[in-house]
Amino acid sequence: MTQQVLLRGANVASAHGVEPLDILIEGEHIAAVAPRLAGSAPQAEVIDLTGLTVLPGLIDAHVHLREPGGEHKEDFDSGTRAALAGGVTTVLAMPNTSPPITNCDTFEQANRLAAAKAVCDYGLYIGATADNAAEAASLADRAAGLKMYVGSSTGSLLVDHFAAQIAHFEGYPADRVIAVHAEDEAAVRYYATRGQRRPPICAALSVAYLLALAEQTGRRLHICHVSTRAELDLIRETKARGVPVTCEATPHHLFLTLEAEARIGALAVCNPPLREQADVDALWANLDVLDIVATDHAPHTLDEKRGEQPPSGMPGLETMLPLLLTAVHEGRLTLPDVVRLTATRPAEIFGLGRKGRIEPGCDADLTVVDLSARWTLGDAPLYTRCGWTPFAGREVRGRVERVYLRGRQVFDGERVLAGPGTGQPVIDS
Ligand code: DOR
Ligand code: ZN
Ligand code: ZN
Repeated sequence: MTQQVLLRGANVASAHGVEPLDILIEGEHIAAVAPRLAGSAPQAEVIDLTGLTVLPGLIDAHVHLREPGGEHKEDFDSGTRAALAGGVTTVLAMPNTSPPITNCDTFEQANRLAAAKAVCDYGLYIGATADNAAEAASLADRAAGLKMYVGSSTGSLLVDHFAAQIAHFEGYPADRVIAVHAEDEAAVRYYATRGQRRPPICAALSVAYLLALAEQTGRRLHICHVSTRAELDLIRETKARGVPVTCEATPHHLFLTLEAEARIGALAVCNPPLREQADVDALWANLDVLDIVATDHAPHTLDEKRGEQPPSGMPGLETMLPLLLTAVHEGRLTLPDVVRLTATRPAEIFGLGRKGRIEPGCDADLTVVDLSARWTLGDAPLYTRCGWTPFAGREVRGRVERVYLRGRQVFDGERVLAGPGTGQPVIDS
């Protein structure tokens, strides 16, 4: 008989509410969710979670795991351990590696590395280049999505000309996601020559352009890391007309302002940059326009960050959930908002049918948290190989106590219990 585990007595959070419920796990799946299930599963191993809260395992749709080519910063092993420690059970990994993931060979290579090393479930993006529209489209069924950098960032990927952009928009399947790094390359360069680093207009110009391109071609645009009021206004208006565009915000754009650059220097430098308070306030005031929160986990070593030309980006996998739970504690978000933004919506957007919900038949990916635990980010050792967090010293409310991945306990609050190769691909159509 398939092994049964009964999680008893926890508050179970969904996108709709929070209720005291028991969860019966059978093998890799959720078999039942209801009050007082003990009688119906006499054989089950019972785990008492009284006083704790269970969320669907988080799905982080935007991570940079650096493999191949950047293993000194992170790899599939260290990055997915960081994910589990942060309550994230599925990651979608970006293609700006060395070499970048832009064709069948590199896509196969990255899939082999992930299969051998990942400890959480994963999907991989394919990167758009000036001339790979046909090959990228041929991989669409097996990719998390197409990632297009219309403005340059870390790595060599860049598609900043109309002919190449429209070839991708017209060639990529209409039911698959085209995720964009939306900063206008010409504007980025123009402002750089004037000593200004990627001001908000760079993002607004690019988002307006991409929304028009997506509407014209009928493609499923997903706008990564929105950071300004102007982007949100454009996206709200386009959504209101029924265009199926989606967008994400990062924890660093929600919980830090440009002031952090003065405080922690290059550690706070990222693309798009951190913004002034008014733009941060606009993210919080427009949570209904935001589809998902994703980390843009972008590890670089402290040596690199302290060097002459510090690379852009910061890690986020281990800090996203405690930051969001702290916002819940402060009344700025609800627990159902957190579930919607980090599990239910990402599963819907990326077509992960068995993920993101605590319901019979779904994968038993569960993140158990203690909402009352009070601790300080950066005090405990981190799993990310880069070893630092821009949030060090911040007191938070809410800690990950246990994580289950497809029915198996993979994190106990301190240690990752899963070994390399535990992770499975989530895109299998
Ligand atoms: O800050 C960033 N870092 N923005 C990006 O777009 C890429 C990322 C990275 O890969 O380092
Ligand atoms: Zn980006
Ligand atoms: Zn990114």
